[in-house]
Formats: sequence, C-alpha cells, structure tokens
Amino acid sequence: MNYANLKDSYLFYGIAQKTKAYQKANPDKHLYRMGIGDVSLPLAPTVIEALHRGVDDQANKATFNGYMPECGADFLREAIAGYYKKRGIDIAVDEAFVSSGASDELGDILDIFGHGKKVMIMEPAYPAYLDASIIAGNEIIHVESGKENGFLPLPEDAGAADVDLIYLCSPNNPTGAVFGKDKLKKWVDYANRQSAIILFDAAYEAFIEEEDVPHSIFEIEGARTCAIEICSLSKTAGFTGTRCGYTIIPKELERNGMNLNAMWVRNRTSKTNGVSYIIQRGAAAVFTEEGQKQIKENIQVYKQNGKNLMAALDRAGVWYTGGKNAPYIWMKCPKEMGSWEFFDLILNEIQVIGTPGEGFGKCGEGYFRFSTFGDPQDTLKAAEMLEKLIKEL
Ligand code: MLT
Repeated sequence: MNYANLKDSYLFYGIAQKTKAYQKANPDKHLYRMGIGDVSLPLAPTVIEALHRGVDDQANKATFNGYMPECGADFLREAIAGYYKKRGIDIAVDEAFVSSGASDELGDILDIFGHGKKVMIMEPAYPAYLDASIIAGNEIIHVESGKENGFLPLPEDAGAADVDLIYLCSPNNPTGAVFGKDKLKKWVDYANRQSAIILFDAAYEAFIEEEDVPHSIFEIEGARTCAIEICSLSKTAGFTGTRCGYTIIPKELERNGMNLNAMWVRNRTSKTNGVSYIIQRGAAAVFTEEGQKQIKENIQVYKQNGKNLMAALDRAGVWYTGGKNAPYIWMKCPKEMGSWEFFDLILNEIQVIGTPGEGFGKCGEGYFRFSTFGDPQDTLKAAEMLEKLIKEL
C-alpha cells in the first residue's frame, strides 16, 4: 500500500509523456531538450576502446567471464579506491562497491535500514529520494530551503528531529548549490550526535570548479562513522545509457551492533549478480589518466552550455543559482509565474523543455531547472530564444 502514497507519476516520466504528446501533435517542431539531466556527448574514446576489448574478452575461452563478483570486479574497485587516494582520501578496496548507477543505489540502499525509519530530505530534492523512501514505508521529514539560505539547509533549519537517515546532495540537484567544508561538517556532527546515517549523493562532484569545495563527504572529519557516499559515472563520464556507479561504505559504520559494510555485502550477494564485465571494463577506463583527461573535455563542453545559458539569463535580468559547480541552473520564474505555467509557456512558444521546480518539492514552486547536458547548438539557440521571450513578457 506504500505505492498508494506516491504521486501519480515520477517527475521525469511525467515530463517525458507531456513532451511526447507535444511532439506527436507538432511533428514538424524541433524540441530543445534541457529537462532531464541526460548527456548528449558520446563516451570518451578510451572508454569505447575498453568496452570493445571487453567484448573481445567475452569471445575467447581464455579471457571469458561468467558471473561477476556481486560487489564489483577487483580491477574496478581498485581503480575507484585509487581515484579517492589521488584526492587524499583513504578508501579500502572492499569499501568501494560497484553499482549500476546512483539512482538505483540511492533507493536500494534503504534495504539495509528496514522500514518505518525517519528519513530527512532537504528540499528542493531529486525526487527519487522521496519516492524510494515512500516505497520503503519510511516517514519523511521535509526540510525546506530557499533563496534566503542559498538553498543550503543546515541542521538548525531541521530542528531537533530524531532522525535515522539524511539525504544530502552536493553539488545539488536541482539547485546547483554546494556545501562548503564548514557546512558539511555541521551535518556530519549532527548525524554522529543523532546516530543517523547520511546518504551522500556525490553524482555531480566532477563539475566542482571552486578549489575548497569538498568533492566527497569523506573529506570531512567524522564522516566515516556516519556516511555512505553514492556516486555515478552517468554525469561524470556520460554513462547514462551505459549504467555504472559506485558506493562507498566505510567499515567503521555500525548501527545497533550491525556493520553496514558487511550488511551491504550480504545484500548484494543475495540480490544481484553484479554489473556486467564489459561495462566494468569501460568504467575502469574512466579512472585512467587518459580517461580522466577525455571526460574533463566533455565536462568543459557542458560547462560552456551553462555559461551561454547564464549569460542569456543575466541579460534578461533573471535571478538564478547553480551553473558554476554543477550542471544545473535553477532560476526564478519570471513575472511570479508558477513553475508548471512556465514549463507550458516555453514548451508551446519556443519548444524548450526544462523541469518545473515544483517537481522537486513544494518549496521549488516558482522556480525552474535547466540541465546543461544538452546539445551545444541547441542550448545556444534555446538560450537566445529564452532571453527574447522573457524580455517580451
Ligand atoms: C535529473 O535530471 O535530475 C537526473 O538526470 C535524473 C537522474 O539522474 O535519474
């Protein structure tokens, strides 16, 4: 019956349906897709070569692989631990779990906490946190944020809630806001005091530009006793259609005498047969020197999209945040419009698709999100059209 407590449809599914209906009614119109954060550039050449080699391995008896280890192949777990090491963070190889992506994992991880937990969600928030928590039969504590706190709620905004789980996302989806070390430390201290677990969504860490912004919660002292970090190669390396991510669960993490790392091993060994060998080969290539160089070139293209869009919003006099350390721009709808009203307006007038802020929680009403992962030509054209339309309102 938990499903009866969900909204009728998932945000991005609903938008896709609306967009499809519009395209069907207007088959000659080109759509400018800046809604869901889906990448538009192909995988890095190094990754493609590794995928091809993986296919060839599966064609030969001597190199063929059957079931993969449920928690990930050693070669990929080592590459992930090495990636943290380069950033000065010590992660043991068996603290890194390979997954098929962050969206799967952010919900699946709830398995080890049971039902009826108190889950704190900072809003506006990626809607999968809420839906997965409702499906798991948890109680939701909504913590709202807004312009006044830069969309970065702190424990003092949450009150003294007695909470089990806390979803945090930095760089944030949808607002693009980032927690600095001091603010993140407040959450880590709060979680340790409450014996809560932070589920830290680091899917956008590769977009951070500013020097002192933490890429990982494990840069913060005390995080190893209260945090699980969930990351994805979707946005970092264009794996939205390829599917691979990773989850870090420190071995110190215990609650009620139970070890969470050991519980996740138990869960994965029962519930999955691992990510495919070929995909893990491609993922490991992301962490090579060449792979890192190539994915950064793609990220720069998306960053240029963001700059073009921000420049257009500046010229149109629109308030926005994000875009700098994140691939999302979060803007105030013009003329006090509602977020779905603005969605309909730009779809019908200029065929630009974005995401209504309300879809990320009540306090997102009146705001709108653009993804900067779109095609560069399309994003440039959409930015020009948006500027003109907003100026004419
Ligand atoms: C988004 O647009 O918020 C994300 O791309 C959706 C996702 O990662 O599932």
